[in-house]
Amino acid sequence: MEQRILSAENNYRQLDDYLTSHGFKTVMLVCDSSIRFLKLDEYFRQAEERLGIRIVRFSDFQPNPLYESVVKGVEIFNREGCQGIIAVGGGSGMDVAKCIKLYHNMDPNENYLKQEIVENDVPFLAVPTTAGTGSEATRFAVIYYEGVKQSVNHLSCIPDTVLFDPSTLRTLPLYQKKSTMMDALSHSIEAFWSINSTEESRQYSRIAIKLVLDNMCGYLKNEEAANRKMLEAAHIAGKAINLAQTTAGHAMSYKLASIGHIAHGHSTILVNEKLLPWMVNHTDRCIDPRGREYLEDIFLQLAHALGKSSPLKACEYLSEIVKKLEFSRPEASEEEIEVMVHSVNLIRLKNNPIALDEESIRKLYHEIVIKR
Ligand SMILES: [Fe+2]
Repeated sequence: MEQRILSAENNYRQLDDYLTSHGFKTVMLVCDSSIRFLKLDEYFRQAEERLGIRIVRFSDFQPNPLYESVVKGVEIFNREGCQGIIAVGGGSGMDVAKCIKLYHNMDPNENYLKQEIVENDVPFLAVPTTAGTGSEATRFAVIYYEGVKQSVNHLSCIPDTVLFDPSTLRTLPLYQKKSTMMDALSHSIEAFWSINSTEESRQYSRIAIKLVLDNMCGYLKNEEAANRKMLEAAHIAGKAINLAQTTAGHAMSYKLASIGHIAHGHSTILVNEKLLPWMVNHTDRCIDPRGREYLEDIFLQLAHALGKSSPLKACEYLSEIVKKLEFSRPEASEEEIEVMVHSVNLIRLKNNPIALDEESIRKLYHEIVIKR
C-alpha cells in the first residue's frame, strides 16, 4: 500500500480536504499534552466548528504506553462512534493509535494481544512531530502488558496517510532535534547492513542518508525547508526499517540510553560509530546467508551512500558527525557495563550480519562509554 503524503501548506488545506473527503462526523485524535505547542492544536479546535467534525481527543497514555491505555482508547473510540484516527506525536502516541486501529474491531471481553488481528480499513492519518522514529512508516508498535514489552507487528497498522508539518519541529529543543535526526540516520544505516535488507530497502536507506546529510545544517538552524526534508528523511528511513528492521546498533543502545541518561538517537549513533569499524574488521564472522564477499560490498556501498570512498573513511565520518553534534560519552562503572552486556536482546542481534558474542559486546561497550 502506497501511503499518501499531505503537505501543511496553505493553512493545512490538504488536511481540510482529507477530513471532508472522508465525510467524517467524528474522529479520534491521539496526542499527548505537547500538542498545545503546535499550530495543529488550534487547527483541530477550529476544525470542529469550521468543518463540522467532532474531534474526540485521547491523551490518557504515558511514554512506554500500557496495554490498559490502549484498552481505554478502544473503548472510547467505539463508544463515541469514531470513524477515523489521527495520531499526532513521536513514538508512544503513534504506538497507541496503531493498537487502537488494530484492536477496535476485536472482542473487548478477551485480551486483544491473544486475538487474531482482522484487517480493517479505518482511515488512519499520522502526523510525526519529530524527524526521527519513522514510526508513521512502519508496521511495528510497542506496548507494555503486565510489565512485559509486547512487540506488535502488523501491516494493517501502517497509517494510510501522513502529514508532514515542518512547523512541529520549530519548537523542539536542539538536543532532541540532534538525537532524533541520529535515530533516523541509525535506522537507515542499520537497515542497510541488516540481514533482511533488500535492494528496495537499501534504496530507501540511500535516499534517507542523503537527505539527512544534505539537510543537517539547515535543520539545526531551524530552516523551514530543511525541517521539511528531515521529516521526509526520517519517514523514508522508517520505510527501510519496515522492510529490513534494526540490528545490533539498536539492540545495544537501549540500556546505554537508560544507564547513561541520554536520548535514544544519541545512544544509537554512539553504538553505530563503534560497531561499524568493528564489523568492517570482522567480516570473517559473517552470518548473512549472502556471504562474506557480499557483506564487504555492502560496507563499501554504505560508504558510498555516506559520500565516502571506503568503509574506513565512512567510519571516520561517523565519528566526525558525533563530534560535530557535540554528543557526550556517558560514564559507566564496570558493573553498569556488565548490566548493559547482559541486557542485549539476542533476537534483535539475529538481524546483524556479523555474529556478536558476549566478549565482543563487552569490548564495544568499553569503547563507547567512559569508564568510571
Ligand atoms: Fe530508533
